[in-house]
Amino acid sequence: MFTSSSVRWTIVSLGIVTASHGILLSDKEDSQEAPRTFAIGDKCFLKDGQPFRYISGSFHYWRQPPEYWEDTFLKMRVAGLTAVQTYVYWGLHEPEPEEYNFRGNLDIRKFVQLAQKSGLLAILRPGPFIDAEVDFGGLPYWLHRMNSTMHLRSSDPSYLQYVERWLRKILPMLKDLTYSNGGPIISAQVENEYGSRDKDLKYKGFLRDLLKELLGKEVVLFTTDGNAAELVKRGMVEGTLTTTDFGTASESEVRAAFELQRQFNKDGPLVNSEYYPGWLDHWGEPFNTVDADKVVETLDAMLRMNASVNTYMFYGGTNYGFVSGSNAGDTFEPCITSYDYDAPLSEAGDITPKYTKIRNLLQKYGTVPSGPVPPSREKAAYGKIQMYPMGSFYHNFRKLCPNVPISSTYPLSFEFLKQPYGFVLYRTVINRSTKDPSVLAINGLHDRAYVFVDKEPVGMLARFSTDKAALNVYIRANQTLDILVQNEGRFAVGPIEEMKGIVGNVTLDGKVVQDWKMYPVRLPGFPVDDPQPLDFEPGRGPKKPEDFDIPWFFTSKDFDVDEARDTYLRLDKWTHGYAFINGRNLGRYWPSQGPQMTLYVPGVYLYEDRENVLELFELEPPAYSLEYRFVTFEKDPVLNSSISDAK
Ligand SMILES: *[C@@H]1O[C@H](CO)[C@@H](O)[C@H](O)[C@H]1NC(C)=O
Ligand SMILES: *[C@@H]1O[C@H](CO)[C@@H](O)[C@H](O)[C@H]1NC(C)=O
Ligand SMILES: *[C@@H]1O[C@H](CO)[C@@H](O)[C@H](O)[C@H]1NC(C)=O
Ligand SMILES: *[C@@H]1O[C@H](CO)[C@@H](O)[C@H](O)[C@H]1NC(C)=O
Ligand SMILES: *[C@@H]1O[C@H](CO)[C@@H](O)[C@H](O)[C@H]1NC(C)=O
Ligand SMILES: *[C@@H]1O[C@H](CO)[C@@H](O)[C@H](O)[C@H]1NC(C)=O
Repeated sequence: MFTSSSVRWTIVSLGIVTASHGILLSDKEDSQEAPRTFAIGDKCFLKDGQPFRYISGSFHYWRQPPEYWEDTFLKMRVAGLTAVQTYVYWGLHEPEPEEYNFRGNLDIRKFVQLAQKSGLLAILRPGPFIDAEVDFGGLPYWLHRMNSTMHLRSSDPSYLQYVERWLRKILPMLKDLTYSNGGPIISAQVENEYGSRDKDLKYKGFLRDLLKELLGKEVVLFTTDGNAAELVKRGMVEGTLTTTDFGTASESEVRAAFELQRQFNKDGPLVNSEYYPGWLDHWGEPFNTVDADKVVETLDAMLRMNASVNTYMFYGGTNYGFVSGSNAGDTFEPCITSYDYDAPLSEAGDITPKYTKIRNLLQKYGTVPSGPVPPSREKAAYGKIQMYPMGSFYHNFRKLCPNVPISSTYPLSFEFLKQPYGFVLYRTVINRSTKDPSVLAINGLHDRAYVFVDKEPVGMLARFSTDKAALNVYIRANQTLDILVQNEGRFAVGPIEEMKGIVGNVTLDGKVVQDWKMYPVRLPGFPVDDPQPLDFEPGRGPKKPEDFDIPWFFTSKDFDVDEARDTYLRLDKWTHGYAFINGRNLGRYWPSQGPQMTLYVPGVYLYEDRENVLELFELEPPAYSLEYRFVTFEKDPVLNSSISDAK
């Protein structure tokens, strides 16, 4: 029986004492002269020639304001983790071909450097496909426009040319941060659970060789696949370490999982690259949790077997703006805005009971530095804030749709309209006689449509759950039909080829409607670190609740705070829309679906020296009377309302 004290794992020792919390991250300074090597040993990793295994946690830089990164790293290190694992989100870094963004919460170099400063090694997962429950699995939306028939995630040269251009941009930016070059990056993943997609050897080999060339052969390369022989066989690639992923399990199941890995790696370390302490969430489904004691038990079992483990997620964070992706389940399943994940650190980065239990376990493995656990950030309850109408979608049309529309006989997708996220208005004037009522059908509606006749709302169509697929409308010749289409996030995995908007034809009584004008809608979305207040003219307020039943903007007044602190925006009785704080898109709210009832507002997004402005873009008829036109800022999140409560 293995006992932890029988082996002396080398602990990351970067010699950092953090003055702010008095936490001793290591007891000795690394000798600067010692050669820094990281390699695969007989049954474990070898760090500077010594047996080593990492205890890592996933944390995605774009899901937290950069002001908080160091605090999160510190909390990870103090829990007893020795490494951080992150994906690289291509689609955010290259929003349009060869336009790059590495600022603010996309400053990945700074992220990796801060990890090192906090005493953590780094494991890089540069994709290019990452899933991560983000839009299009992290690929840039414009790939479709370059060539809509290219084979994504394959050795198709039409696709590979963009992958190669991107990796030749990003990896040289990180090369001096590899372990042998004095940085924290010890390893890098080839693709992402590729066995669930395909088995294109040429593609895997291409990525492996490019990673080796650009990061240097000293960086350990690995693949990760689901815990099943057929997945691993398809996903693995020669010359890299084969790893798998799995969640809580019994000791014998853990043993079986590692025996499976042994079939593919005769030697080398056992690794669970994604150990799930919680799970992702969808709108309209109950919030997922995983029992903390079970999480600790399984982690202990893996560590007793000398395995290296990465907890996915250790800190989940937030899907700001429009980054939330969707999944293809029994129905179309858009992911919620929070990526809390029931992780050991909450969405706000706070200590949870699960965190404390994991830290207690890791004491036994000798990786917990001495010193106290950093405190959670203080939360504020700013209370009730009254909201005022700022005009409907049509009142603000010129600002929302400033450009001349794009004309086409049949509707075009978002991708071909150069609209990455959000909304497009599809407009046509009916030029023939119709029935009373006519049946309006949208074939290929991705994902939700608000329908207007001469700017009067007449109904909604959606692919989500039980909503209707066709609508009766009263419309006559020369009347204008407007369809405002909302993109609720591209598939993060699975049928990622799908495009957004109206991707088929619109029919009226079975006849195809032609001659469309399309208006991409400009809303603040990306980057979240580049605030763009809506700043609309005040509009006429609706007099009766019925008048609300069209998309309407609202703004706060007199929202002042003495101390800018993290808080949660609670939107009971609002229905479905987007919230913007001081011009930053906090993401989608949808309390009428649940389970998420509050949006996380980082304190760094608030002002102390001037008025704060909260803006809401409410898409649907409200569940409240006019007097109920307020929001509240509270100290605690509500992510787990039961679905029937929310309805
Ligand atoms: C698009 O990709 C396909 C598949 O590689 C290829 O056959 C086709 O020639 C490409 N089209 C263009 C315009 O490059
Ligand atoms: C763990 O590693 C140590 C040191 O290499 C070894 O003595 C022990 O047998 C290993 N335990 C297991 C379960 O592999
Ligand atoms: C309506 O417009 C379509 C497309 O421009 C055209 O083909 C059709 O003849 C028009 N119908 C009438 C009744 O004008
Ligand atoms: C539609 O408008 C055109 C041009 O203004 C007009 O000639 C036509 O009579 C109108 N049709 C109907 C049904 O009102
Ligand atoms: C839309 O309808 C036209 C005319 O029937 C047809 O040629 C075209 O292929 C259709 N488009 C789609 C995406 O189905
Ligand atoms: C939601 O979470 C809170 C706080 O953890 C807990 O007290 C409550 O019981 C949970 N509610 C549901 C419906 O699971």
